[in-house]
Amino acid sequence: MDEREKYIEAGRIASTALHYGESLVKIGGSLLEVTDKIEQKILDMNGEFAFPPQISLNEIAAHYCAHPDDGIEFKEGDLVKIDVGVMIDGYIGDNALTVDLGDNEKLVKASRVALNNAIKLVEPGATLSEIGRTIHDTIVKFGYAPVRNLSGHGLSQYVFHDKPSIPNFDTGDKTKLRRGQVIAIEPFASTGSGVIFESSPANIYSVIGQKPMRNPITRDVLKEISKYKNMPFTTRWLTRKFHPGKVNFALRELEHYRIITSFPPLPDSGNGLVSQAEHTMIVDDDPIVTTKNG
Ligand code: CO
Repeated sequence: MDEREKYIEAGRIASTALHYGESLVKIGGSLLEVTDKIEQKILDMNGEFAFPPQISLNEIAAHYCAHPDDGIEFKEGDLVKIDVGVMIDGYIGDNALTVDLGDNEKLVKASRVALNNAIKLVEPGATLSEIGRTIHDTIVKFGYAPVRNLSGHGLSQYVFHDKPSIPNFDTGDKTKLRRGQVIAIEPFASTGSGVIFESSPANIYSVIGQKPMRNPITRDVLKEISKYKNMPFTTRWLTRKFHPGKVNFALRELEHYRIITSFPPLPDSGNGLVSQAEHTMIVDDDPIVTTKNG
């Protein structure tokens, strides 16, 4: 497989796993169980995790990942965002959708239509400014606020958030898309403020540095997480191998020494409900949306 084929294969697996996850979300179902099944699906298709699958509810726009002993069950009225990233040899497919367990169909549609309108503009030479404006205008027309401090992003080998940042409103950025560039566009629509903040606790991390560690527990955990290179991982993957108390101790120490960084859950500051839609694409005259068909 060449680079492009790897992007397409990663996108195919990411999309298949995402839609499989969508089919499993039911009132009374377990968030942890759906997460585990999405992970298994990715492994069964010989994909690698670009990041742990995330299922974020209601006012949380992104970055909620099931805890090792997660007890959350889906309930009536929940707005469920699923975000799945897969890689083949480091080439990433990143996609997300929203499942409505209440009566928020219009809110779900707002982010999806914004994504589709943005994709229509994607071609070499299109500016980030016009893509952001279209996303903003579409979501506002539905009566909601786009989330301004979350954005789409470029993708490259083993880099899950590369340049450029693809805004969800018009930032005035006249940077042009280039042919062959790989990008993810991800509009979020909110009934609240459209501004998210970093909440706690986080259980997604990635390695950002290397330093020799003295404590044997921390060293064992560091050795394990180094397998993920600089890609995000989650505590649940570690508690399968180490005692949860050791994992917590090691992660706290590694974060203190800035060897890892965390990605906390991101709720809307106005406590609004948030929907999301996301696709990955290769920029061309007609963009190749790698996550279109599972
Ligand atoms: Co993304």
